[in-house]
Amino acid sequence: IAEPAARPTAWLAGAPPEVVRLHASHKGSYGDVAVVGGAAGMGGAALLAATAALHGGAGRVFACLLDPVAAGFDSAEPALMLRRWDSLDLSAMAVACGCGGGDAVRAALPTVLATARALVLDADALNAIAADTQLESLLKARARRARPTVLTPHPLEAGRLLGCTAAEVQADRLGAGRELVQRLGCVVVLKGSGTVIAGPGRTPLLNPTGNARLASAGTGDVLAGLVASHLAAMPDGFDAAAAAVYEHGRLADHWPRRQALTASALARAVAPERGWPAPL
Ligand code: APR
Ligand code: MG
Repeated sequence: IAEPAARPTAWLAGAPPEVVRLHASHKGSYGDVAVVGGAAGMGGAALLAATAALHGGAGRVFACLLDPVAAGFDSAEPALMLRRWDSLDLSAMAVACGCGGGDAVRAALPTVLATARALVLDADALNAIAADTQLESLLKARARRARPTVLTPHPLEAGRLLGCTAAEVQADRLGAGRELVQRLGCVVVLKGSGTVIAGPGRTPLLNPTGNARLASAGTGDVLAGLVASHLAAMPDGFDAAAAAVYEHGRLADHWPRRQALTASALARAVAPERGWPAPL
């Protein structure tokens, strides 16, 4: 178990993070993220992930809502582009959240698994894969093609994927993370206190940041968006996941004591933790 790579280690030492936004760059330099999710009544989850991806530095963020009657734009975050999930060419895609247990996510997943250059799968997308061997085969086929794929289960979701209980996952979190990597060939972020990041051929990491203030609805959706924003800018799924998990926890560790930590506030707090150059 080692500490996350370059940037997070620099943060630990108190050094300013590396400047990642070059002067002569443009939004195309920082990648696209599409969040597929937001089944009827669950649009908030997809918008939380999309907001985190936007604040995380992705160049453009599309929220691809599965609910056909969803609003045309998000008044809280008008920079988000609300689109049909099947109309995009993507450099990164987060199937985040609020996908619902219905037919929509099962219909979307085969295309998403086949086409997304990089992919984050969370929540109901994972539950759909756990319940459907055909989807599981598509996920494994994707992993064999070496396309970055990050799974972000909490212990119950991990248990569904492994065919065991959440308590069994919790009894050996590192073992569960490793087992998921072995079975599915993807990068795995096993969430909860002491998040484990495991990936093919990599030494697993135990994230040192984060605290129980993150135990608040939607913070996992924010994490999925944050992983996607890192994936949009860096090629390696393991490094992107480790950096995002570290950053997500660190935001909570530095949260003002007398201020509520909600998922929406967390998503909007992402940028100040990054070392964007100060304006001249
Ligand atoms: N210490 C450190 N980190 C924590 C703690 C803790 N005590 N509690 C929670 N966290 C972190 C987790 O590591 C994770 O990053 O907060 C996040 C919680 O993510 P989820 O468990 O996915 O919770 P949530 O975002 O509310 O999920 C929304 O999706 O996964 C489904 O069934 C779930 O309905 C729920 C929905
Ligand atoms: Mg969740």
